[in-house]
Amino acid sequence: MTSRPPRPRRDVVSFVRRSTRMNESQAKAWERHAATYLVEIARGAMDTSVAPDATVDWAAEFGREAPLIVEIGSGAGDSLVPMAAGRPECNVVAFEVFEPAVASTLGRLGRDAVTNVRIGLVDGAQALPRLFDDGSITELWTFFADPWHKTRHHKRRLVDAEFADVVAAKLAPSGVWRLATDWEDYALWMREHLDDHPGLVNVHGGWAPRLAERPVTKYEARGLAAGRTVHDLTYRRADAPQD
Ligand SMILES: C[S@@+](CC[C@H](N)C(=O)[O-])C[C@H]1O[C@@H](n2cnc3c(N)ncnc32)[C@H](O)[C@@H]1O
Repeated sequence: MTSRPPRPRRDVVSFVRRSTRMNESQAKAWERHAATYLVEIARGAMDTSVAPDATVDWAAEFGREAPLIVEIGSGAGDSLVPMAAGRPECNVVAFEVFEPAVASTLGRLGRDAVTNVRIGLVDGAQALPRLFDDGSITELWTFFADPWHKTRHHKRRLVDAEFADVVAAKLAPSGVWRLATDWEDYALWMREHLDDHPGLVNVHGGWAPRLAERPVTKYEARGLAAGRTVHDLTYRRADAPQD
């Protein structure tokens, strides 16, 4: 693994703040389940940013020590809820900035009585370097991250070399990063930035087979209906060089 320290994540964010208005069932789900699943995180300058000195004791949040899975951009929880339910032996932390989507996730978690998920309503790109110890994450999931097509917006893409530095530092020795996108230009961009990263190894040497446990979400269905191909990728942490 690379010994370079992670570069601080720049201020450009990978999301657009949309309306925080919730429908009635989302408001009810929030009222019922927020206290159970939402994690309190010290905020920075923006209400989605993470204070530089913020900390979270994950074992205390979950009430147990367990392998840690992190999802960034969990949306309405379409992947998160069933995938976390299928991995009861893991603690799963999801970051999502869009409150109505988080409320829908809370509703699903409550309905399915899932107990191994906690949600941070903050920018996951800032949370990753600040809230997790190096070498502590067993799996990172980034599924259908916003594609940011225009060249002038590429700096907003969640996946880039700078973010990969952070991921490589945070992954456990056998940890993996699973990605999926329905946008070919973003898929190729991911390969371009991650395949040669010194801290990561492309597990399949190219595209990964579709992850069986990943359900078809609204975003995937929309991409397929529009005739796009969905690409999965899996990277593992590169081994530390031997002396
Ligand atoms: C296109 S949606 C995909 C949602 C989900 N992964 C799925 O497949 O259904 C992308 C989501 O990522 C969220 N997002 C983007 N950048 C984020 C970040 N840095 N931290 C937390 N959430 C983020 C957006 O708010 C949006 O809900």
